[in-house]
Amino acid sequence: MEKIFVQGREKLYGSVEISGMKNSALPIIFASVLVKGESIIENVPIVSDVHNSLKILSEMGADVKYEDLHTVRICTDNIGIEKINMGLVSKMRASSYLMGVLLARFGKVRIVYPGGCNFGHRPIDEHLKGFSQIGAECIEKNGFVEITTNKKLKSGEIILDKISVGATINMILASALTDGKTVIRNTAREPHVDDVIYYLNRCGTNIKRHNDVIIVYGSSSLYGARYRIFPDMIEALTYISCVGVTKGAIEIKNIRTSHLRSLLPLFEYMGMDIYSANKKAINVRSMIKLCGSHVRTMPYPGFPTDFHPQFSSLLCYTNGGGSVDETIFPGRFAYVNELKKMGGKLEKTDSKVFIMPSYLYGAEIDATDLRAGAGLVVASLGAEGESTVNNVGYILRGYEDMVGKLSSLGAIIKII
Ligand code: UD1
Repeated sequence: MEKIFVQGREKLYGSVEISGMKNSALPIIFASVLVKGESIIENVPIVSDVHNSLKILSEMGADVKYEDLHTVRICTDNIGIEKINMGLVSKMRASSYLMGVLLARFGKVRIVYPGGCNFGHRPIDEHLKGFSQIGAECIEKNGFVEITTNKKLKSGEIILDKISVGATINMILASALTDGKTVIRNTAREPHVDDVIYYLNRCGTNIKRHNDVIIVYGSSSLYGARYRIFPDMIEALTYISCVGVTKGAIEIKNIRTSHLRSLLPLFEYMGMDIYSANKKAINVRSMIKLCGSHVRTMPYPGFPTDFHPQFSSLLCYTNGGGSVDETIFPGRFAYVNELKKMGGKLEKTDSKVFIMPSYLYGAEIDATDLRAGAGLVVASLGAEGESTVNNVGYILRGYEDMVGKLSSLGAIIKII
C-alpha cells in the first residue's frame, strides 16, 4: 500500500500549476453520453475518479482515447445500458450522473447506489424527486435504483428542496434532450455546475442561469464539441493552506481568480499577502504567524465543505485558532482524531470543530477520505519531524500529482 512520507517544516517557494476541476470533469465525461459524435475534453485532471468514470463509459461501449495527457476524446454513439460496471458505480458519487444521462437518452436506467467519499450518509432523494417532476418513475429496491419513463421526459418545472450540486447537475442532464423549456429552481451555483452548462451549450443546448434558477432549452440532437474545463478551485485553496502552514511565497497558476473571490479576503485577513497580476494566477506570500478565524461551510459562493479539513489543519498553526461549522456534511470530521495524533488540540461538538493553537509533530496518520487526506498532508507539511499518511488512494481520487507539485515547491515529500 502506498503512503505519503513528509518531512515537515520546509518553506515553500516557486510556482504550481492547478489541474482541471475534478468535480467538473466527472459530470462532463458522463454528459458526453447525451451527444452524437466526438467530444474533446481538455484540461482533464489525471486522477483516479476520472480514470474510473472513463472506464465505466468504455465498458458500456464508448470509444475513449487520450489526445494528450490532459485531453480526452469520447464518442458514446455505440453505448448500451447492459454492461454497467456496478462495482465502480458503487465506489463513486459522480456515477449518479449516469441516472440523468441514461434516463435522457434511453428512457431508463438501473444502477446500484452511487458510492463516494466516506463521510456519512449521502442520499439521492433530491435527484429522484427531481426526475419524478419531469415524468420519470423511480423505484428503490435491494440496493438498486431503477428509473423509467413511459413516454419521453417532459419539459416543465423542477423545484429542488435542498441546494445540491449533484441533483442540480442531474436535472440539467436529464432535461438536456427534451424539446421545450425546463425551469429548475433552487439550484447550486458552484462553478462546476456552470462548467457543465457551458459544455452542453457548446453541444447545442441553450441553458441559462438567473441566480439560482436555471432554464434549460434542450434539443434532441446534440453534437460533440471541444471544451476546456475549469481549473480546480479546491486544489488552489489547498495549496494556499500549504503555504499558510509552512510559510514561504508561491505563485498559483492556471486558476480562475473569480472562483476564489469570496475566499481570498479571508486569507488576507488572517495575515497572508495575496497579489493577483491577472485573472489566471495569484501570488501568495505567508511570512508571519497567521491569526485564526471562524468559518461555516455553505453552498457556493460560501466557504466550501470540500476545503473544510485543509482549513482545520491551517487553523492549528494560527494564533488564536478558530472553528469550522460544517452545515453540509455533518459526518466530515474523521480527520479530527488523526490531527489529535499529531498533537492537534481540537474539540468536536455536533457539527462543529473548535481548533486551538497547537504544536504539531510528525506521526503516522490515516487519510479517511479525499479532502481529509489532503488536510493531513497540509498538517504534515507544517509539523515538526516525519509524518506518514496512509490510504493514499483517497488523495489520488481527486488531486493530480500532489506529491510532485509539493516537492517542486521545496517540500520534502514522497510516495513510499
Ligand atoms: C458534490 C461534490 C462534493 C462536494 C459537494 C458539496 C462531486 C462528485 N462531489 O457532492 O465534492 O463536497 O458537492 O459541494 O461533485 N443531499 C440530500 N439529498 C440529495 C442530495 C444531496 O439531502 O439527494 C444533501 C447532502 O447530504 C448534503 C447537501 O445536500 O447535505 C449537499 O450535497 P450535494 O451538493 O448534493 O453533494 P454532492 O453532489 O454529492
